[in-house]
Amino acid sequence: MPAHHDDYARSAEFIDVMIAGWWEAFGAHVAEAVASMKGAEGPVVDVGAGGGPGTRVLLDTLPEAEVIAVEPSPALRAVLLSRAADPFWGGGRVTVHGEDLLSARLPERLGGLLAMNVLGHFTPHQRARIWTMLADRLAPGSAALVNLLPPHEPATIERVVMSELTVGRRDYKGWSAAVPTGPESVRWSMTYEVHEAGEPVWSTDVDYDWWCLTGEGLRAEAARHGLEAAPTGPDEAGLFLLRHGAGAGA
Ligand SMILES: C[S@@+](CC[C@H](N)C(=O)[O-])C[C@H]1O[C@@H](n2cnc3c(N)ncnc32)[C@H](O)[C@@H]1O
Repeated sequence: MPAHHDDYARSAEFIDVMIAGWWEAFGAHVAEAVASMKGAEGPVVDVGAGGGPGTRVLLDTLPEAEVIAVEPSPALRAVLLSRAADPFWGGGRVTVHGEDLLSARLPERLGGLLAMNVLGHFTPHQRARIWTMLADRLAPGSAALVNLLPPHEPATIERVVMSELTVGRRDYKGWSAAVPTGPESVRWSMTYEVHEAGEPVWSTDVDYDWWCLTGEGLRAEAARHGLEAAPTGPDEAGLFLLRHGAGAGA
């Protein structure tokens, strides 16, 4: 398996539980958009599936679809594989790939693709490779659903609590802040804290790069690959459906 720099190597244990709030807020909008993917002409891919909340939406919304869940972070993949192996959760319909998206051996025909909360991990050059792949492999009439998270352009984001929850006797708190690192990127700095009875138990700091993109930028990139990107759902969700443009001969 080719090397993948795992931005979640030290934070993976917190991601699935701390991203649950995003899915509570926007999961129904994701499901509504996913329902417009055909899912029947080839497997549907969940890119950077994490612990599988998007995979769950694909399974529920496209009951006939086979799902390929791509997750390069071993710790997050452990959560995902455990769920996928549960016949009541995955129903035998989920295959887990451990490569990064651009190294994964995917089928020639895709019934759809879901990329939630992950696009910023790809450089502009890597994004172009994703759009090429979609233009080549997305089944006619099918769609890819991606989301754009703020900031859409480089900006300083002051440190705020992004998520907190209690599990048993312990309280978990995630902080985030970002600084611009170039004309198209920021560097996120996350801190994950664990407390018990008000006392700190331990914490970890994680930094990673994130590539910003506006809706306009996405539409322009997609168009260069014969794809149309259309916003869907509430603006805060940042959801866009990508399909073959009129006249594309896929
Ligand atoms: C913020 S998490 C989102 C997880 C999940 N999609 C969700 O919304 O709950 C970003 C995920 O993207 C994955 N990821 C990062 N780079 C990737 C790449 N090059 N190919 C595939 N997945 C990648 C990470 O390992 C991580 O699981």
